[in-house]
Amino acid sequence: MTQKIHLIAAARPNFMKIAPLYHALSKQDWCEPSIIHTGQHYDANMSDDIFADLMLPDPHFHLSVGGGTHAEQVGKVMMAYENICLNIQRPDLLIVVGDVNSTAACAQVAAKLHITVAHLEAGLRSGDRLMPEEINRLVTDAICDYLWTPSPDADENLRREGHPESRIIRVGNIMMDSFELLSGKIIAEDAPTKYKLDEKSYGVVTLHRPSNVDNPKILHSLMDGLIENSKKIKLIFAVHPRTRNNLIKNNLWDKMQNLENLILIEPVSYVPFMSLVRSAKLIITDSGGIQEETTYLDIPCLTLRDNTERPITVTEGTNKLVKPEELSINVDKILKNDWVHGKKPENWDGHTAERITKIIDNLLNK
Ligand code: UD1
Repeated sequence: MTQKIHLIAAARPNFMKIAPLYHALSKQDWCEPSIIHTGQHYDANMSDDIFADLMLPDPHFHLSVGGGTHAEQVGKVMMAYENICLNIQRPDLLIVVGDVNSTAACAQVAAKLHITVAHLEAGLRSGDRLMPEEINRLVTDAICDYLWTPSPDADENLRREGHPESRIIRVGNIMMDSFELLSGKIIAEDAPTKYKLDEKSYGVVTLHRPSNVDNPKILHSLMDGLIENSKKIKLIFAVHPRTRNNLIKNNLWDKMQNLENLILIEPVSYVPFMSLVRSAKLIITDSGGIQEETTYLDIPCLTLRDNTERPITVTEGTNKLVKPEELSINVDKILKNDWVHGKKPENWDGHTAERITKIIDNLLNK
């Protein structure tokens, strides 16, 4: 019997998590994987271009929910995905990834329809319930049948919350599968040359967390920090739509655009972005995934957050949590090569999709 498997893709960070799994499952004769794009991210450079880079087909189902408040987004996703499950195709297994609104929304739909649901990247906790993602992680893990984790700290978090051992399976970090799958293209891309940047002589910046970019005072201080540090090293800043909107609203857009050593660009898709990251001297970010990718690539990462749900990138990797006022001193340290070399955490090896495929085969067919 062909097992129907749904993979939920919603926002940019999800796409590199579903791609390796979609490719691995597509090769099996016992299952039929389908991609459900909820439409949480809809701009071409936040979605379609990344699908193309990751060699994903057009989504099998598109829910087109778009933006909105958290409740609007979750509500619209739940209604639209429930309609798919009830009236178009009921899956034998749903796989949700990461921690975005659509992750929690689709997990709830499946759990209430008694559809088996697995969470890939389960167990991560920042301990900070002011982050919408932390709420999504807690809700999703509470109701999923299988919790596929990337690291031992995630297993521990789930045990501490009382999840039964039988649900927790360490599979590794699937993001590294995407990187390995596309490493040839990433090297060939040579994005730094396109932006006239020399290897290891520039930094890459991304900022989009509401806690950093929605508050005008913090946004101003972060932009001042970037301007100051761009005098020491050229910075290329891929501006997320939320950040761009806030820079415009706070009259910072023109100021930020006219700086010699600070290059503002639109968000770029996966291959050019990873091409920029792999040759960078340092990264300044508040992203989750980039903390992991820099640890994997042994590149110094300054994370502008008070906490991280990915502590292994700090304890074993190249990541450091910094406050805006600590940015400059840490950039100086990196420029003096006074930085730790990280090690790759166990099972961040490019084989996570294979391990999960075996687990699903056992689950559905044995
Ligand atoms: C979402 C996720 C966050 C993830 C991030 C990656 C939640 C709660 N947040 O945050 O975990 O790290 O994606 O980018 O699920 N917009 C566009 N075009 C797009 C997408 C968004 O213009 O393609 C605009 C929206 O209309 C909105 C703003 O950007 O004004 C923020 O988008 P939204 O999807 O609400 O949240 P993100 O900040 O992207």
